[in-house]
Amino acid sequence: MHLTNMPEKNFDFSPAVKPFNVIQPTEKEFDLFRELILKELGLIWGKEKIYLLHARVHRRLQYHQLQTFQNYYDFLQSEKNRSELQFLYNAVTTTKSGFYREKQHFEFLRSEILPELKERMIRKHLKLRFWSAGCARGEEAFNMAMEAHDFLGTKLISEGGLRILASDVNTEVLDSAVKGNYTTEQISPVPEVLRKRYFVSDSDSDKNNDVLSIRSNIRKLIQFRHFNLMASEYPIATKFQLIFCRNVLYYLDPERREQLLNKLVNHLDDQGWLVLGITESGYRLNGMQKLSYCIYRKN
Ligand SMILES: C[S@@+](CC[C@H](N)C(=O)[O-])C[C@H]1O[C@@H](n2cnc3c(N)ncnc32)[C@H](O)[C@@H]1O
Repeated sequence: MHLTNMPEKNFDFSPAVKPFNVIQPTEKEFDLFRELILKELGLIWGKEKIYLLHARVHRRLQYHQLQTFQNYYDFLQSEKNRSELQFLYNAVTTTKSGFYREKQHFEFLRSEILPELKERMIRKHLKLRFWSAGCARGEEAFNMAMEAHDFLGTKLISEGGLRILASDVNTEVLDSAVKGNYTTEQISPVPEVLRKRYFVSDSDSDKNNDVLSIRSNIRKLIQFRHFNLMASEYPIATKFQLIFCRNVLYYLDPERREQLLNKLVNHLDDQGWLVLGITESGYRLNGMQKLSYCIYRKN
């Protein structure tokens, strides 16, 4: 058959949905989204973020063929479109992270926390439970796992000796965290000895050897879960000896910070440690002793 005889539609390579300009949000429209983001995620979006809203979200409007932010807001209000909220959450959360980010916390983990926990594991058969709350692409949780494995050794942490919960509200970063793949540049802050021990190259899928995967012995220590830290209760029965919740509070409004901190303290075991980001200082927490400007210990 000659191509010219083919029905015309077979030659139409243009996308099914024609791209069109999404109009910048008005101040009134931006306020609707500010309130929604605050109510659902506890995040503060100052007036200066009006352009960011457009930059991060306009593709969703194009996808749904909606031209204005008011149209998109109305779309989100409908019960049948609830699942769209997740796309909004993924777009508006700030997910910057990295291995050995705020390195002093991992030094504290190795010099103060792990020696004491090791002692209790040996003497009292303590099982370790850690939580990376707001884990982004998993670097923080894998970092905790590598440090603990390196310090405690396989024997102590096997058979449930160590388990780490890593949670986030953003499903895109969680999907990436579960894969546990990182570029050599992302891994560069990891000391060479740990890099060699805990990463493996996946030469089948990565011909340039630029992407390394976390080894399965570290991966299986971590459970990644999706939930919103603003929920009144968390789907967790465990008490943790250590919670890292770093660079999450920074983006929240003051009332939500207080509420979140109280919930985290409730999920800490007696004598457990809570580590916040280095800019997240100045809190006074009931029942907690302040060890440094952003590290607390439960009484
Ligand atoms: C800036 S990252 C910090 C990552 C890591 N903790 C660190 O310090 O490198 C903040 C993370 O918190 C998550 N987050 C923000 N609001 C949240 C909420 N209400 N519930 C759960 N996770 C949230 C974001 O999706 C993001 O991945």
